[in-house]
Amino acid sequence: MTQLMAKPVAKAVEFLRQLSPEVPSCAVVLGSGVNVLENLTDSQSVGYQDVFGIAPGVVGHAGSLSLGRVDGRLVAVLRGRFHLYEGYEWEVVTLAARVIAQWGIPNLYLTNAAGGLNQSFKVGDLMLLTGYRDLLNPELKDSGLLPGIKGDPTPCINELTDHLSKVAEKLHTENVGFRNLQKGVYSALLGPSYETLSEIEMLKKLKSDAVGMSTVPELQTVAGTKTKAAAISVITNVWSPDEVMGGHEEVLEAAKEASARLDKLFRAAIISH
Ligand code: HPA
Repeated sequence: MTQLMAKPVAKAVEFLRQLSPEVPSCAVVLGSGVNVLENLTDSQSVGYQDVFGIAPGVVGHAGSLSLGRVDGRLVAVLRGRFHLYEGYEWEVVTLAARVIAQWGIPNLYLTNAAGGLNQSFKVGDLMLLTGYRDLLNPELKDSGLLPGIKGDPTPCINELTDHLSKVAEKLHTENVGFRNLQKGVYSALLGPSYETLSEIEMLKKLKSDAVGMSTVPELQTVAGTKTKAAAISVITNVWSPDEVMGGHEEVLEAAKEASARLDKLFRAAIISH
C-alpha cells in the first residue's frame, strides 16, 4: 500500500532543489552495515519519507539523506535502500537512482555488503565492480533456466571506476595496512535468504566473484544517463566448500573495519575528482 505514496521523481527532485540549490558533486548510497562519510561539514539530514514519500523497512537501514561537504565538495549520502525482496516495485527500488540522475549529480558511488565467491578474497576486502549479472528476476530464478545462462557479465567500467581504482592504488602504496582493492563481477540474486550451495556452484560457473541482493537495479537505472556510477562491495563473508560461514558477530566486525578503509577511499576519491 505504501508504495502508492512514493513521490514521482520530479517532485522528489524539486524537494531536494529547495533544500540545496547547489547540485552535489557526487552521491553515495550505503548498503547494510556500511558506515562511511559521517560528520560531513555543514551537513543537513532529511528522512527518506520526506524526500521520497516512503521509507525503507529493513533493520539497519536508517533511510536518511545527508547533504554536506568533504573538503568543500558538496556530497549527498543516502543511508538505506529499497530492495526487491521486500516486495517493492521496480519503480521504488530505482527511485533514488532516478532522482540522483535527474537532479544532475554527475557521480554516483554505490556500496553493498556481499558474500565473496572468489576464493582469493578475504573477509573485509573491498571489491570494485568491473561487471555484474542480473539474476534478480524471481521467475527466471524459479524457471531452472539459470544454469544455462550464456554470455559475459555486463561490464561496469568507466571514468569513475578508473578513478576509484587509481585512488585505491595510491592509498595502498602510501598506507601500511590499506589492502589492495579487489576487482570482480557481482551477481545480484533476489534473496532475502542467502544462497544455497547449488546456487553458489552456479554463480561460480557464471564467473561471479561476489553475490548480493542489490546495486544492479541502480547501475541499470543510471546507464544511459549523464550520471556515471561505480560500485564497491564490502565482502562480509567468503563462501568456501569446506568451511562454514563465519558468525554474525564476525561479519559485523568485518564490515565495521572495512568501513573505515572505505571511508578513507571515498574521501580521497571525492577530493581528488
Ligand atoms: N549473499 C548474499 N548477500 C549477502 C551475503 C551473501 O553471502 N553477504 C552479505 N550480503
